[in-house]
Amino acid sequence: MRIVDLINKKKRGENLSASEIDYIVQGYTMGEIPDYQMSAFLMAVYFKGMSKEEIANLTLSMVNSGETVDLSMIEGIKVDKHSSGGVGDKISLVIVPLCACVGIPVAKMSGRGLGHTGGTIDKLESIEGFRTELSKDEFVNNVNKYKMAIVGQSPNLTPADKKIYALRDVTGTVDSIPLIASSIMSKKIASGCDCIVLDVKVGSGAFMKSVDEAVILAKTMVEIGKSLGRKTVAVVTDMNQPLGHEVGNANEVKEAIGILKGRGAEDETTVALTIASYMAVLGGAFSDYESAYKKMRELIESGEAVEKLKEFIRIQGGNPEVVDNPDLLPKAEKHIEIKSSVSGYVNSINAEDIGVSAMLLGAGRKTKNDSIDFSAGVTMVKKVGDWVDEGDTLCILHTNKTDINDAKELSKSAFVIKDKKPEPVKFIHCVID
Ligand code: URA
Repeated sequence: MRIVDLINKKKRGENLSASEIDYIVQGYTMGEIPDYQMSAFLMAVYFKGMSKEEIANLTLSMVNSGETVDLSMIEGIKVDKHSSGGVGDKISLVIVPLCACVGIPVAKMSGRGLGHTGGTIDKLESIEGFRTELSKDEFVNNVNKYKMAIVGQSPNLTPADKKIYALRDVTGTVDSIPLIASSIMSKKIASGCDCIVLDVKVGSGAFMKSVDEAVILAKTMVEIGKSLGRKTVAVVTDMNQPLGHEVGNANEVKEAIGILKGRGAEDETTVALTIASYMAVLGGAFSDYESAYKKMRELIESGEAVEKLKEFIRIQGGNPEVVDNPDLLPKAEKHIEIKSSVSGYVNSINAEDIGVSAMLLGAGRKTKNDSIDFSAGVTMVKKVGDWVDEGDTLCILHTNKTDINDAKELSKSAFVIKDKKPEPVKFIHCVID
């Protein structure tokens, strides 16, 4: 085989066979195919797309490019969840204790934030002492005994995805449905779970800007999951503004604690309970979604869920006292209020701009090896649909930095304020199963 022939084949819109796709993926991972040819191939995929079969084969090739996790030592049906990337998305911190309460084992590998989107591992590490690296035995034992563990993703998992993703990032080929779907699903399949609930974000802070595109992505991933023997459900959720009120790390942990105490904002509570309920149904704890949802609510109201969070923090070495006393979490020195210069209804908030503002304040990294300030972030005082008077605070920036003019301007311009009241926000657009 010659890579140039395969590039031409895809350029003409023809389908590639499983062995041709594998030749490209393994060849690129091992350094035998250079970046310039892989870039051309990715751009051909971007414009010509891939068939369902090609996407499943691409996913499998990426899974086979590295190690896979064997979770057979863990009892029960292992259910994982994945978000396609958002701003203020602290849902994983909420669903883990909820699922554990109903006996669903969650053996989760999570990522760090990069760019404008946050990562669960960074959020957890803002809790003093919390360990996101566990030995294999500790990981397995914790899930068997307590039904929950979250660790950072093993560097040996899906090396092809890591290399291809980095190339996509600099060649304008990130927002391609076959490439996003195979990238996400390869990591989920390699991490060894039996069932997957996908949170596909749509809106200004997401890769998918329209519901139609998000539905295609959701259907594509559900088909990949099913074709590879994993029960998969995708929930398409709104990301036209940050989720909840907090964007950052420590402040998102504080907000996640609040959700589990029944004080969460309506959007994030609805999304968390929906995802947790589908996980509980796929894991076999409930026969129907409605009963699962009712139980999840009860777990929050009874205080059981927040007690489970305490246990989760404790077993991974963190200080569980943060749950009763969130003021123990890192706090920034400066809190700058961003005021509105006009009156009206908040019609939209560009979630990506708020995510970038949080990053500029110190909450995110520009490159993988940058360090972050756990206390930095943004509090959304106003959300879409709220009325604001001129001079009202729109959001508060938390930082230890001195030069934050970029973040001030960007966060202010993220708010679109008009006379007309916008349509109510739909938190869940649809569910694909
Ligand atoms: N998240 C991923 O893991 N991969 C993508 O391509 C996009 C979002």
